[in-house]
Amino acid sequence: MGLNIKLSYNWREWPVFYHNVRMMAPYRIFIGKRVVLYPYSYLKSVPGIIRIGDNTSIGEFTYINSMEQVSIGNNVLIAPGCHLTDANHLIAKDKLIRDQGRLASPLYVEDDVWIGAGAKILAGVTIHKGAVVAAGAVVTKDVSPFTIVAGVPAHPIGERR
Ligand SMILES: CC(C)(COP(=O)(O)OP(=O)(O)OC[C@H]1O[C@@H](n2cnc3c(N)ncnc32)[C@H](O)[C@@H]1OP(=O)(O)O)[C@@H](O)C(=O)NCCC(=O)NCCS
Repeated sequence: MGLNIKLSYNWREWPVFYHNVRMMAPYRIFIGKRVVLYPYSYLKSVPGIIRIGDNTSIGEFTYINSMEQVSIGNNVLIAPGCHLTDANHLIAKDKLIRDQGRLASPLYVEDDVWIGAGAKILAGVTIHKGAVVAAGAVVTKDVSPFTIVAGVPAHPIGERR
């Protein structure tokens, strides 16, 4: 007899939030197992959503901004001080920029990607599986699988072997 309740979660799989992690709208953020958010990382999911897969870590002072969707896969390493955004302001000449609204294009980071310190990943970009983004790169176009990119704008400098 007695209650037949099975707990289906394991505390070892819970995400780790270090101090001063900020989330503007936590109910629009989906975080996988064993994710680590280092101090001062900031997730802004207004009005978009943010998904972070299993075993992924987000470095100190990294800022993720979602107007529509930012999806980060499993086993991704994002170093400190990065900026990922899926949004642009419209910039036609005849009006104030601030009056023109914004345009969102989803941003995807696939599994097993490493994003180096201070890199910026812009709207509409997909960083494919296994790619590496060098420190300080500004990524404006898709990155092919297992390719290493660097620079502003980012360009391929090699491949993982
Ligand atoms: C990209 C990286 C991994 C090195 O990759 P690699 O394939 O070993 O590249 P190499 O060091 O052989 O450099 C290849 C070329 O790319 C250039 N390069 C390397 N890193 C660069 C960077 N961050 N920005 C611009 N160019 C870079 C090198 O100067 C070299 O240019 P050259 O061929 O004209 O001499 C490394 O430079 C890097 O940026 N690491 C990130 C470190 C970091 O952010 N750590 C935080 C802790 S998670």
